[in-house]
Amino acid sequence: MEIDREISRIRKNFFETIENIKTAEQLNNIKVVYIGRKGKVSRLLRGLSELPENLRPSVGQQLNILKNEIEAKIKETSLRFATSEETLSIDETLPGRPFFKGVHHPLNIIREKITEIFFSLGFSLVEGPLIEDDWHNFTALNIPEFHPSRDTHDTLYIEGEGHNLLRTHTSPVQIRIMKNNTPPLAVIVPGKCFRKDAIDASHFPVFHQIEGLWVDKDISFADLKGVLIGFISRMFSPNLKTRFRSSYFPFTEPSCELDIGCPICSGSGCSTCGGQGFIEVLGAGMVHPKVFRNAGYTEKYQGFAFGMGIERIALIYYGIADLRDFYNNDLRFLEQFG
Ligand code: PHE
Repeated sequence: MEIDREISRIRKNFFETIENIKTAEQLNNIKVVYIGRKGKVSRLLRGLSELPENLRPSVGQQLNILKNEIEAKIKETSLRFATSEETLSIDETLPGRPFFKGVHHPLNIIREKITEIFFSLGFSLVEGPLIEDDWHNFTALNIPEFHPSRDTHDTLYIEGEGHNLLRTHTSPVQIRIMKNNTPPLAVIVPGKCFRKDAIDASHFPVFHQIEGLWVDKDISFADLKGVLIGFISRMFSPNLKTRFRSSYFPFTEPSCELDIGCPICSGSGCSTCGGQGFIEVLGAGMVHPKVFRNAGYTEKYQGFAFGMGIERIALIYYGIADLRDFYNNDLRFLEQFG
């Protein structure tokens, strides 16, 4: 039948032509030619009414099938163009989106430097609880009940928990270590400490210390000096002056404080060292016999302990005037330490 042949010719032509088109514009043209208002298929559909009535249903059906086939093929082909055009619109030469790269906090950098030096001297790292009891924080360390550091103005007590408190220094870990170990032992203990201090340029209620403890049968004050002078020369500079000043701590005897020549003014006196030419960096001393006893040691041991503030070392190391800068989370400040 003439009309059947016409329909298969249109179908054949369409599928041949569409295989060769290269652009979205050509695709649009082919759409107009076949199924546009005056297109080949549309024209035949309109001519249906002129056909003998008995042929109309089957011819109409064939034409609708063809129209659907053409529409589907055009849609499928247009997807191909859409994706290839989208790909082309990505400019691969543009720089990538910047992303924020974090840096270590200066206090962590300093803690790492300090612990590395003590590791190289044979110390190992231990930690203790932030919530302490009265015994470990004070009594065992030979701090009697009337001692001012027990005053509620310094110590943050925990409500309803007996005599529990937030540790005011890392020294209570000395007791915990000695209770569970037999000498020789050499440990450093970094960690947070808490005191009920008003915030200013050199005080903050949360701060960090590193405790050191070396106990054996024949440890002398010369070992204390050797280790601490070695630490200062590695941490700062081998040429820096050091000065041991006698001092008092209830848990060491004799006790001392270690000063270093001011690295800002090299000892001539400036505002950082208050015109002294020296800055205090840590407290230390030979472990008090009562502390050994409280830790349960019956044999005779000797040892030294020291404690330093990480913030203090960081302020000196970087030449920073105000400790609050460490906690303000101002990225302009923190990013400088990458
Ligand atoms: N715990 C003391 C402080 O917080 C420091 C210290 C530690 C002193 C060990 C001597 C020995 O000030």
